[in-house]
Amino acid sequence: MSQRFRHLRHQDVEALTRMLGPGGVLSGPDQCIRYTHDEFVREDPRHLPDAVVKPATTEEVSGVMRLAFERGIPVTPRGGGTGLCGGCVPLFGGIVLSLERMNQDLEVDTQNLMVTAAAGVPLHDLYRAVEEAGLYFPPHPGDESATVGGVIATNAGGARAVKHGVVRNFVRGVEAVLPDGEVIRVGGKILKSSTGYSLLNLLIGSEGTLAVITRAVFHLMPPPPASYTLVASFETLQDAIGTVPAILQARILPMAVEFIPREVIPITEAYLDKRWPAQRGSADLMIILDADREEDLQRLAERVGSICTERGAREIFVADSPPKQRNVLTVRSQIYEALKDHLVELLDVSLPRGSIAAFVNEADRIAEEVGLWAPSYGHAADGNVHTHIMKSVWKDGVWTEVDGWQEKYALLRDRVHALGKSLGGTISGEHGIGFAKKQYMADFLGARQMALMKAIKHAFDPKGILNPGKVL
Ligand code: LAC
Ligand code: ZN
Repeated sequence: MSQRFRHLRHQDVEALTRMLGPGGVLSGPDQCIRYTHDEFVREDPRHLPDAVVKPATTEEVSGVMRLAFERGIPVTPRGGGTGLCGGCVPLFGGIVLSLERMNQDLEVDTQNLMVTAAAGVPLHDLYRAVEEAGLYFPPHPGDESATVGGVIATNAGGARAVKHGVVRNFVRGVEAVLPDGEVIRVGGKILKSSTGYSLLNLLIGSEGTLAVITRAVFHLMPPPPASYTLVASFETLQDAIGTVPAILQARILPMAVEFIPREVIPITEAYLDKRWPAQRGSADLMIILDADREEDLQRLAERVGSICTERGAREIFVADSPPKQRNVLTVRSQIYEALKDHLVELLDVSLPRGSIAAFVNEADRIAEEVGLWAPSYGHAADGNVHTHIMKSVWKDGVWTEVDGWQEKYALLRDRVHALGKSLGGTISGEHGIGFAKKQYMADFLGARQMALMKAIKHAFDPKGILNPGKVL
């Protein structure tokens, strides 16, 4: 990027401190080091900001943006820091605008079936409040310390997206601060809107490049009265994934269908000190089913069970109580954490769901050819595959680093993305583009779509100060 940005001067830091109070501004390497990265493991995009600011209100966010806009200082918004693409890394220094102090404001409206939350509210607090009100927020991005603003900024998904969709399907309104400090309120507690272009949908998934999301309204649902989680084990990963179209063709729409190669399970069990129920076979499907009545649920589970058995399942475990279901979902959700220390990059290709068996088969073959271990798991029924490019191999509890993994990694990620494109897929299903996947954008989208996106970016952010160097 050729753009030149200004740095914060001493008097800017003083002005910010006057605005936000002493606890609202951090400066100096020791205080800011935690804000140089998210969960993206590569170190090359890491960069120290000049200062981290922690506004506590929308007005304070607006004040920070006004100062940054006038001075031409880059601002990188940050939520829970759980992103996987370096999206909240301050590539050009300047200000990291952390929304962590905007974490209290949370209100469930049981009359309208909506929840309003400030951007810094972590998902675990949101789930708790919604549950206490007897309602349900279906999306479940794996890491519950992610925040409301962050999951909207990336349009996060997670395992439970099959039946009800991703975060985008639940956002009804946002309050956002534009780069020049003006506050806009888009949408609201309304279910339907055909009122001009959807700025709401532009802000969702914009990864902090168009505006700073400060508050949001999500639509809620009644909770499923009854749900089971099935774990079905197969001889091969292909047998497991191949069963998914058969379930959908039987006109059964589970809440979640995840596929997991067993080889990553012992690593996750050791990391969490928890047990995964299945032992036989070498790959599993984790299927969450819900129904209005217990007897319907049992019938549904039996039908899914027999489809799995017909397709060669060796054993089927049914988690029927909430603690058992939580255990299975936790092990599944923490695979990434368990592998992270030996990971180079987690890919996030999203495909037509009928193509994932072919994709995974070919990705495994390419990985073998290149000479890296790159287990794929993910969201089988919505076609979103996470290929974990590892720099080490794991055998019997011991990790061994692969010689020359750096070059092998670069080759493997290019080839897996090319494979995804050839099968009609796209770069990211739920993690976003951030810094990590930017290089593939033009190839997937083409020049005209890139130009349209750049024009939109310019309309929101004419000085290009918001999260520069990301997405486009
Ligand atoms: C998962 C996260 C990494 O599916 O998206 O586990
Ligand atoms: Zn995922």
